[in-house]
Amino acid sequence: MSLIDWKDDLSVQIVEIDNQHKKLLNLINELHDAMKTGKAKDVLESIIQKLISYTKSHFATEEKYFKQFNYPLTNEHIKEHNDFVNNVSDFQEKFKAGKLGLSIEIMKFLTTWISKHIQETDKAYSEFFIENGVK
Ligand SMILES: [Fe+2]
Repeated sequence: MSLIDWKDDLSVQIVEIDNQHKKLLNLINELHDAMKTGKAKDVLESIIQKLISYTKSHFATEEKYFKQFNYPLTNEHIKEHNDFVNNVSDFQEKFKAGKLGLSIEIMKFLTTWISKHIQETDKAYSEFFIENGVK
């Protein structure tokens, strides 16, 4: 069973971005499955790394459009991205060092952050992006 499922209320009405968000949710589910089935630490580490790398490249897509179209809420939005990457990277370091385990709290943090960020912060750019021709 997946931890977080894609629902239409997560759509920002832009296919390219929706697909990236779906992939992010898949990676969170993959991490959750690996945690639940007691996969080895190195397997978990590699999924965490994949999640961070993909998150960064996804954020870069959004930020490219912010810059290209001079999006008015750029700074606030990028700050949320940076805070998230810092938090997850911090967790990654502690996990690697054996100082912190993967827990349901961590999984909840990821799912809550992603859905709140999409529904509030990302949806705020939908109309603006669409008006600028993003599909
Ligand atoms: Fe975003």
